[in-house]
Amino acid sequence: MGERAIRIGLIGFGTIGTGVIKLLQRQRASIRDTLGVGLELVRIADIDTRRDRGVKLARGVLVGDARVILDDPSIDIVIELMGGTGLARRFMLEAIAAGKDVVTANKALLAHHGDEVFRAVERAGVEIGFEASVGGGIPIIRTLKESLCGDRHQAISGIVNGTCNYILSRMSEEGGEFAAVLKRAQADGLAEADPSFDVDGIDAAHKLALLIQLAFRVRVPFTQIAVEGIRHVSQADIAFAREFGYAIKSMAVAKRCGDRIEASVRPTMVPRRHALASVNGALNAIAVRGEALGDTLYVGAGAGMMPTATAVVADLMDVARNRVHGSRGRVAPLGYPLRLQTRALTVPPDDRLGEYYLRFLLVDRPGGLGRIASILGVHDVSIAAVIQREREHGRAVPVVIRTHQTREQALRLAVRAIDRLAVVRGRSTVIRIEESIG
Ligand code: HSE
Repeated sequence: MGERAIRIGLIGFGTIGTGVIKLLQRQRASIRDTLGVGLELVRIADIDTRRDRGVKLARGVLVGDARVILDDPSIDIVIELMGGTGLARRFMLEAIAAGKDVVTANKALLAHHGDEVFRAVERAGVEIGFEASVGGGIPIIRTLKESLCGDRHQAISGIVNGTCNYILSRMSEEGGEFAAVLKRAQADGLAEADPSFDVDGIDAAHKLALLIQLAFRVRVPFTQIAVEGIRHVSQADIAFAREFGYAIKSMAVAKRCGDRIEASVRPTMVPRRHALASVNGALNAIAVRGEALGDTLYVGAGAGMMPTATAVVADLMDVARNRVHGSRGRVAPLGYPLRLQTRALTVPPDDRLGEYYLRFLLVDRPGGLGRIASILGVHDVSIAAVIQREREHGRAVPVVIRTHQTREQALRLAVRAIDRLAVVRGRSTVIRIEESIG
């Protein structure tokens, strides 16, 4: 085994970076004993070199310019925790071209430029660790790459955005509409000041794009993942869902449909009896359905300083171990050679099948419900159950319908026609029901 410590440079000293330094300091001896070689943090680069992050660093370790790390030939591994897809992409590609191994938590970068980054990694014969990019501390990337690699996967479904899960859980447990609960989450530091990436489903879609490549060995163009956020989910929907026996979760789902893949991120009703329905707060959970193994579920802290730091440090140790044993490239970035990856055929919107929950606000007068039912019938949408409330205030009453399995496109056309009826107030709500998730 080598004598020299593995030398590490960190770019981006935010929350996760701070957690990584804390963990490296706390676990220093144990890591050295485990690997037979130490991990030495040589430099940290961040534009903010003044803020006190509550960790002690030797003089000169923290610098304001990432070049100090990239241009240092003695640095073996670069951790990229700055985020974004501009500079981060450049820095990663530079580090890889210079023969350095890289570790990142940057799902946006890998979702948009993964091809380029993974190809560069394979070409340079270096390693990349990105366990922290999906599910924070949940070891789902390595699980798919290594532990489950002997199986063929049918579906992967997950709660992969902690912010959405926290908001929907609080709405469900304590009442309150989306806007008010989001404000409370922001005040508690559990939602970003600009929450769009999270609540509009983009962050989850980035993660799903990666999970698809790992689970199905294909690539789905990011634009072909149907993405819908949670802003429109209301207390009324949560209450009706409960009546039908469901909880509403923001679900990222990818499944095989014949030789095609269907991929979406959207508010989804999941049966309350399913374990995913009780994964609450900021927790994440990922369900994998394998042909041989069946269903497995991975639950844990999907974000946060120390949970995410554990994933980064595990990647560092893995990369360091392969360096020490001369086995770099032992496992390809995605678990299989990139040249074997194909572009997936996705299910066209016209052919997507599912069950749906619909909520309309209907003026209470004779024939109203009949007109809705008849439009659904014309579009071949079959009704499984209906709830209509009595009038409380004003003349409009909520009508809730659960459909049998139906074509998504036909349903959208039917709802558009229903929304144009004079007896219908406002825009109707459509939420997918997933009866059978992994
Ligand atoms: N913003 C993410 C979330 C955490 O809310 O789950 C980082 O992936």
